[in-house]
Amino acid sequence: MIPKDLLLYLEGLPLPEVRFYAETGSTNQDALDWAAQGAPELALVVADHQTAGRGRFSRQWFTPPGAALAFSIVLRPVQVSTAHIPLYSPLGALSVVQALENAYHLKPQIKWPNDVLLDDRKVCGVLAEALWQGETLQAIVLGIGINVAPSSVPPADQILFPATCVDEAVGRSINRWELLAEVLKVLLEWHGKITTSAFFAEWQKRLAFVGQMVRLENPGGDSFEGLLLGVHTNGHLRLQLDDGSERSFAIGDLKLRPLS
Ligand code: BTN
Repeated sequence: MIPKDLLLYLEGLPLPEVRFYAETGSTNQDALDWAAQGAPELALVVADHQTAGRGRFSRQWFTPPGAALAFSIVLRPVQVSTAHIPLYSPLGALSVVQALENAYHLKPQIKWPNDVLLDDRKVCGVLAEALWQGETLQAIVLGIGINVAPSSVPPADQILFPATCVDEAVGRSINRWELLAEVLKVLLEWHGKITTSAFFAEWQKRLAFVGQMVRLENPGGDSFEGLLLGVHTNGHLRLQLDDGSERSFAIGDLKLRPLS
């Protein structure tokens, strides 16, 4: 059963169907399964507790009961070019950033490509997964996990990057469903505009570590160090390498770390 206050916050948003789970494995998996069975555009899955929440690089995502926001939305892009699919996860990140700005006057940033940071600590992760039928894109499931209460911050020995939560930044306990509604409002505005110059401008404005030395690592072991210059309009990250040359990196299996 969907909690009453969640329903109240979602009222007025054009969501065709919402599924709420007190406990589930992963809302991304639920949404992918639902999409495969015909879930409509903007079908939403929300969970209080995920037992197998997943993140990028096949990592686990911590979602204890009563503390975090974990949801996935089904998008059914029409005529989207494959080159634009990687822009869906920054869409999730920018939506969370602007929701935190609008509702709580915070100043979040985006660690390329799609982690949301508060005071240089991770508060939100985004995982976009595509559902294909042969060569045809059926749906994109955009999964968003936000640390809200302090107990949603994973234990220090389970994280690779410092983490924080929204309650700590705001200085009080906020309502998760209010935040969800704010994120969805922004997301619905940007959805369909992710290839526009306005989208890139807003993304770039909030990019963390610009003008700082960073390292990009890929799971294969290669790494590149350079000065972070910004993002191109295709979402690629621009780095200036030690020899002064500029190199671009596509959104993919790359981890970004500040060097200082
Ligand atoms: C990351 O930073 O690695 C991405 C984490 C994405 C977590 C969210 S929580 C809701 C949705 N369901 C999942 O299993 N994962 C995403």
